[in-house]
Amino acid sequence: MERSYLRLLENNKMWVDEQLGNDPNFFADLANVQTPEYLWIGCSDSRVPANEITGTKPGEMFVHRNIANMVVHSDMNLLSVLSYAVEVLKVKHVIVCGHYGCGGIRAGMGNQQFGLIDNWLRHIKDVYRIHSKELDMIKDLKARENRLVQLNVIEQVQDLGKTSIIQNAWKNGQSLHVHGWVYDIHDGIIDDLKVTCTSVKDLHAVYHLDRAID
Ligand code: CO
Repeated sequence: MERSYLRLLENNKMWVDEQLGNDPNFFADLANVQTPEYLWIGCSDSRVPANEITGTKPGEMFVHRNIANMVVHSDMNLLSVLSYAVEVLKVKHVIVCGHYGCGGIRAGMGNQQFGLIDNWLRHIKDVYRIHSKELDMIKDLKARENRLVQLNVIEQVQDLGKTSIIQNAWKNGQSLHVHGWVYDIHDGIIDDLKVTCTSVKDLHAVYHLDRAID
């Protein structure tokens, strides 16, 4: 058996020693409660580690990652994470962070069959279709892909706003901002697309939901 995984367990021991060296109560404090202010929805890509690129420590960020940082309304995993983050943890910011060079976005733009994952990539194709007028005019394929990365983030920000979870939080007076960012794997810089969604006014009227019956 290839045993490179053992390195991870050795690293873990060193990490624990390092944390305890800095703060003997590090784990004792964290074990009691988590009060993260941020929910991160990012890509599963191994080059985009949420905590590292944002300089956040354990306890600071609730994290959900999937291929191409998608917000799919029938995804129980995403909905459960979102519901817990907003209703119980009361995070103040939800961040959708895409990244340039995203394999999911590139696959979604193309026509090759990959198998089961095609059903997931379909959602990216829908984003492409909605914005096909703009995207088809971009002749350079890399530039077109980069723009689709941005447009996909913008659509996922909107998709979050469309959920009853987020809209009910807004109605209850909870301060909750949904942000759209893109990380550049070439230089490590995060670009804020400044498409923040902070109330139903940022959504098309057809998506406004009346208060739930309670
Ligand atoms: Co990706």
